[in-house]
Amino acid sequence: MKILLLGSGGRESAFAWKISQSPLCKGLFIAPGNAGTRSYGKNVNISPTDFEKIKEFVIDNDIKMVVVGPEEPLVKGIYDFFQKDLNLQHIAVIGPSKDGAMLEGSKDFAKEFMKRNQIPTAKSQTFTKETIETGIQYINKQKVPIVIKADGLASGKGVIIASTHIEAIEEFKSILLDNKFGEAGAAVVIEEFLQGIELSMFVLTDGNNYLLLPEAKDYKRIGEGDTGLNTGGMGSVSPVPFVDDTFLQKVKTKIIVPTILGLKKENITYKGFIFIGLMNVAGEPYVIEYNVRMGDPETESVLMRIKSDIIPLFISVTQGTINSQDIEILPQTAVTIMLVSGGYPQEHLTGLEITGIENLKYAIPFHASTSFQDDKIKTAGGRVIALTCISDSLFEASQNATTDAGRIHFPGKYFRKDIGIDLM
Ligand code: AMP
Ligand code: GLY
Repeated sequence: MKILLLGSGGRESAFAWKISQSPLCKGLFIAPGNAGTRSYGKNVNISPTDFEKIKEFVIDNDIKMVVVGPEEPLVKGIYDFFQKDLNLQHIAVIGPSKDGAMLEGSKDFAKEFMKRNQIPTAKSQTFTKETIETGIQYINKQKVPIVIKADGLASGKGVIIASTHIEAIEEFKSILLDNKFGEAGAAVVIEEFLQGIELSMFVLTDGNNYLLLPEAKDYKRIGEGDTGLNTGGMGSVSPVPFVDDTFLQKVKTKIIVPTILGLKKENITYKGFIFIGLMNVAGEPYVIEYNVRMGDPETESVLMRIKSDIIPLFISVTQGTINSQDIEILPQTAVTIMLVSGGYPQEHLTGLEITGIENLKYAIPFHASTSFQDDKIKTAGGRVIALTCISDSLFEASQNATTDAGRIHFPGKYFRKDIGIDLM
């Protein structure tokens, strides 16, 4: 079958790597892809949100499956676009319907969904411009730190953890009155701060049943020891040692099962990945957020541990037979280290030549933001290349990834040397 993968980051590079290994894949296209995805398929210059162009490409090239990497096309309704079109209905789209994508597209929707389905999450209330005064009174009555979240998609920037009431109110007002996050901030969720360790859990669901995928820990801060500004993710580790049977059982019964049942009960079509961002608060799991896609850079570590062919899993998602599938997961540890541009997550240069990829000894290089110009591989964004290693020990995987990170060069290159160290 011919497959179209949408997206252009490290997550999509990892998907392209995995999908291209399947004997069932008779042609892989990546829209738009990057310099790395060229090794696994053919890049096509189409934006993941240009549904009309995607339609034309899919029909002209006899594509039978579309795998959606990022959230934006899902939130904009790519699943429904295919369902409603007689020429596209037969094509499998791996991802939720527009209603399902609201779990990520609106934090207020996600909170209400969790409340309706008794899924543990931080206490919260949502306010708009009309209810700003009540919102201020509400903030003043809560403990600090307190979490302020723009309701809509804000490219991972819409969350502020305020350590004082004054800061919280300032941020709250600037989102609602000064449009700090544009449309995404038309509503604001004020949420209790949860103290604990964060982790990412992933399931693949056909809307009735699910397969549990390997969990991962994401390292979000720019600096070693989890300091400095938030980023899109500086590295990941899978498995996460504290996820033992007891914790996993709680996650399944209190969170995953009620989530799938809730979607069914509310008639929400969902055939794709659910990424559950969790906080482990003294052994109890709480949902921090849902995402309707895989995580980045978690995917790079997670896919490295999935031994099974991923295409039969995708087919069974479409056919509603995921309960008939087994998934083989490698017991080893995968570590991903993200090489980023100097200055990231703030202003940084792009278009700089990358060298040394051919010298890697251990890692698979999953390109995140690269482009291919004049026969050279160049940087094209903040997060440049994710290096993923798998090994029998976390220590060795982390050491190998760090050693290989030293073998790639571009001006200003930066990476964290402590990915996974807190888990050893
Ligand atoms: P989100 O965009 O919802 O993933 O939030 C971004 C980050 O903010 C999360 O990954 C957490 O590190 C942090 N965060 C969000 N909500 C909370 C909360 N209720 N308590 C503590 N930290 C939070
Ligand atoms: N790694 C977090 C995310 O993909 O949103």
